[in-house]
Amino acid sequence: MKRGSFLLQTLIIVQFLSGCSISQTDANTEQKYQYKEQYEPLIDSLIKQMTLNEKTGMLHGTGMFVSGGVERLGIPEFHYTDGPNGIREELERHSWKPLNLDNDYATFFPTGSALAATWNKEMAYKYGEAIGLEARARNKDMLLGPAVNIMRTPIGGRTFEYFSEDPYLNSRITVNYTKGVQNQDVAVCVKHFAANNQEYQRSSISVEVSERALREIYLPAYKAAVQEANAMGMMGAYNKFRGEYLCQHDYLNNQILKNEFGFNGIIVSDWAATHNTVTAAMGGLDVEMGTPTPDQNYNNNYMGYPLRDSVIAGIVPMEVIDDKVRRILRVTYNLNKMNDSREKGELVSSKTTKTAYDVAAESIVLMKNENSLLPLNKDKLKSIALIGFNADRSQAKGGFTAGVKPKYEITPLEGLSNKLKSKVEINYAQGYVQRFEEKDNWRTPPINTPDQKLINEAVAAAQKSDAAIIFAGNTREIETETLDRPSLDLPFGQDELIKAVTAANPNTIVVIIAGGAVNLTVAKQTAPAILYGWFNGSEAGNAIADVIFGNVNPSGKLPFTIPTRLCDIGAHAFDSLSYPGLNGKVEYKEGILVGYRWIDKHDITPTYPFGHGLSYTTFSYSKPTLNKTYFRPGDDINISVKVKNTGESFGKEVIQCYVGINQSKVLRPVKELKAFVKTGLKPKTENIVNLSIKAEDLAYFDEDEMKWIIEPGLYTLYIGSSSTDIKGITQFEITL
Ligand code: BGC
Repeated sequence: MKRGSFLLQTLIIVQFLSGCSISQTDANTEQKYQYKEQYEPLIDSLIKQMTLNEKTGMLHGTGMFVSGGVERLGIPEFHYTDGPNGIREELERHSWKPLNLDNDYATFFPTGSALAATWNKEMAYKYGEAIGLEARARNKDMLLGPAVNIMRTPIGGRTFEYFSEDPYLNSRITVNYTKGVQNQDVAVCVKHFAANNQEYQRSSISVEVSERALREIYLPAYKAAVQEANAMGMMGAYNKFRGEYLCQHDYLNNQILKNEFGFNGIIVSDWAATHNTVTAAMGGLDVEMGTPTPDQNYNNNYMGYPLRDSVIAGIVPMEVIDDKVRRILRVTYNLNKMNDSREKGELVSSKTTKTAYDVAAESIVLMKNENSLLPLNKDKLKSIALIGFNADRSQAKGGFTAGVKPKYEITPLEGLSNKLKSKVEINYAQGYVQRFEEKDNWRTPPINTPDQKLINEAVAAAQKSDAAIIFAGNTREIETETLDRPSLDLPFGQDELIKAVTAANPNTIVVIIAGGAVNLTVAKQTAPAILYGWFNGSEAGNAIADVIFGNVNPSGKLPFTIPTRLCDIGAHAFDSLSYPGLNGKVEYKEGILVGYRWIDKHDITPTYPFGHGLSYTTFSYSKPTLNKTYFRPGDDINISVKVKNTGESFGKEVIQCYVGINQSKVLRPVKELKAFVKTGLKPKTENIVNLSIKAEDLAYFDEDEMKWIIEPGLYTLYIGSSSTDIKGITQFEITL
């Protein structure tokens, strides 16, 4: 372990133990991945020695998760792995078939939305570091993650992999995840670039989105990954954008990503997302992966012999090929693949599993807690009903490529049982059953008729217990790559179960196991306490048990809005052209008004707002103060707010800072997240929390001038515990 990272680690642990404030800024870890100039002459000399065949041989897969090297020159093959929430099991070199080895397990880390729900930048760094360590231990070069697409619709199949509906939260998590991974000598592959926000017709649909929404909502995380964390890889998405496939999109790949953002790494295609030789080569793609190659002659891939021939025919210039090879070699050298000092990694070690636990514990969101039902005092409990299919369901597998073969996974039932030992009677009831219209085929719609027999059993278990916990939500079959969810509703008749059990036992807690938003109308009306428990990784059961029994005070906040109706979300407020798309096209009609931006603008009350999350303690906030009242471009807007823990237990709070302009010549959101800090406070202690925003961060993107404009005028700054629980407001002016 590097000395610097050891010190950081120690500091974080000490801060946790002492309950001091943490996470004031992005993880300030020393970053190894400034590309080193010293390698460039070596790379030039290698390229000079290479034949054209050798060059194009590096630009495509030579197996399912490996691309070519040049043995003659000592250039090794390049190994990829999914990603994004655990290192995938080993597959046959030329197929998707698992090898069924006994040493290719990994830690199942909480999925993307859970990580984002920590609202903790250091936690994102630790997550990246842990997954990077495991990637190295499994000898991988590039992790196919993080997955950073904006949650445009809550029912998007891959919402569980993604971080947020908000570009700022998305960017902060992405940057720190990326630094964590790359500091372990593993490249990230930030995916899926860009505007791949649904699974419906994902390999063909063309996204039409305004330039402004593209810049303000959909691109910031990619830009931040490149400019703040030197991301070494980017994955081109399956879909089309303004009529052209993303893997061959000159405007997005060359003009924006490489030229404007300064991306010096490799653009890798999504698997089987390359459609053409010349357009792809000229459209910025560097490595073609996953193209079906039944005869295993990968030279016939688009970027193999056909590309070589296009160079010979004078259609694709040699410089274009050299640039791609240079990028691969640059990443290769900077990962220390060509020397002995490369990080070795750790697989399912105490460190990586502790991170899985820490993230899980800090991600859990306390949505509702009437009469302080939670935490449960386990010394006073004689019996408890644990109800629900999700109570003892493992969630590591499924979801397609984001599935992990975990060394172990603690389910909620195991976690709670371990904590209760045999002192408390556990009455388990399944409550509902996962069924699809065609038996065992999750691609067909879920059967939502409740199973009355199972409900009756659950009611009986609840009636004879002091308290009941229903583990409801989705599974990895319901939330999955390739398929958007049919609706926001809880599947398999779970609302009927929740109604019946909450009526049978007033001490009923609902725990939602899901990656995306679900309809909580019934649960909110009937259950006195609700937790959001996510697809929370190998340590999920331990983390949820610790929150339920109060060993951990919940501090997660929703990274997305939970709407009451799907049509309360911008993407769903229009016609089918806006979602799921019509005639091969999906038009993002809500423009920049994604997530809470739409909700705010239309004065909609969601079931739970973006940023929501309660605690077992309470916090008070002072009025925010600013370093000045007038700011100019180039200035930092420094905000201070005193936060006090007014309750009886240690707790962490996320102080959220939103800003909106009072009057604008263009449409602006009412407010947008511009800064946040997570701070830990002992009971009755207070802390001055400092946040900072650059005046430039308040700009909007002007489509006519094609540039960012900072508007002069009066702005309102909101400090909140969520996007709607606003604790203090102040104003300032921007002058030019
Ligand atoms: C997914 C990618 C994944 C790749 C390789 C594709 O289906 O979209 O996210 O990394 O497969 O498994």
